[in-house]
Amino acid sequence: MAELTPDDLMFKPGLMAGERILITGGGTGLGKVMAEACLMLGADVYICGRRGGVMGETAKELMAAHPASEGAGRCVGIACDIRVPEAISETLDTIWADGGALTGLVNNAAGNFISRTQDLSPRGFDAIANIVFRGSFFMTLDCGKRWIAEGKPGSVVSILTTWIWSGGPFTVPSAMSKAGIATMSQSLAVEWGSHNIRFNNIAPGPFPTEGMSARLNPTRGEATGGNYRDMSGNPMGRVGEMRELANLAVYLLHPLSAYVNGQTIAIDGASWQAGGGGFASLRSWTEDQWKAAREAIQATNAKDRAQRTV
Ligand code: HXC
Ligand code: NAP
Repeated sequence: MAELTPDDLMFKPGLMAGERILITGGGTGLGKVMAEACLMLGADVYICGRRGGVMGETAKELMAAHPASEGAGRCVGIACDIRVPEAISETLDTIWADGGALTGLVNNAAGNFISRTQDLSPRGFDAIANIVFRGSFFMTLDCGKRWIAEGKPGSVVSILTTWIWSGGPFTVPSAMSKAGIATMSQSLAVEWGSHNIRFNNIAPGPFPTEGMSARLNPTRGEATGGNYRDMSGNPMGRVGEMRELANLAVYLLHPLSAYVNGQTIAIDGASWQAGGGGFASLRSWTEDQWKAAREAIQATNAKDRAQRTV
């Protein structure tokens, strides 16, 4: 379902007209709402993910909710696995051929699950790191090469987590990979600043989404850091609203924020400063609770795998 109305956005209609934005993992969750906001404000938005069907459905749904007659741009769904550099290259060829250079990239695609670190296999680590750490870098590199060769500006926004500062117990491959992308952003903000290619990060606290809940609160309702019904550890006592994140992303993507470069903005109600940002409370879980969590996560993974077209 489309999420936003014009009253949810703090920007004037048409703000993003002429902008061309790619959002990885834009078929669901936070990526989808960022795509919706950019689309509503007039941008051409490309969304990519492994499940081709989900991409097509989301693009269709967002365009139906926000027609061009109301000032919206276009939304195009493309099946692409960002773990595969050749697939990224093909996707970017398609986008460039569809109207020219992107003006912005959102590195949003991710994989994650809670697990005791001693239960991880190398393949389990790779399942996360190949998406978040390697995939986000490959995508950034391919876009950057094109922008530099054509002398075009670009705004790259990477969706991280506050674990880049606090650490992420029980989500170590994700926390390590996100921290790596934070370092990528800081480094390239300097290296590519003279090319007018800039890098900023958003570090969200909990924004309940289907994908996140299935992997981080798999048995639903346990007393964990992933139980978003108990937000007593959050200074503001609540989870994030999708529109709050969408407005921040639009700001960072728009050319009028061009002097903001190399920054990471947390959007978590000051939760991580209060020590409530991660899964430390899972230390009390029993063997049986970990078994149930793993089985529930793997059932979700199997269902998603069956939908992938690439
Ligand atoms: C331990 C696990 C496991 C678990 C999988 N593995 N789940 N290990 N505990 N719970 C291991 C498997 O045993 C296997 O290793 C390896 O990981 C690959 O497993 P597959 O199930 O084959 O993986 P795959 O189908 O490729 O799925 C990839 C995935 C999946 C990353 C595991 O979760 C996915 O596609 N996720 C995409 C969406 C997503 O995760 N969204 C949440 C983002 S939320 P072996 O050695 O056994 O073969 C987020 C929020 C952060 O990031 C902040 C919140 C505040
Ligand atoms: P989500 O709905 O599961 O989104 C993840 C998306 O990534 C999916 O659409 C998935 O699509 C895509 N993806 C995964 N692997 C991919 C690959 N190899 N190639 C291309 N796309 C891939 O979860 P979400 O909660 O919206 O998370 C979005 C981002 O926000 C992630 O970076 C997450 O770490 C971050 N975040 C979320 C929260 C939160 O509370 N929700 C908090 C902090 C940070 P396919 O399966 O079709 O590939």
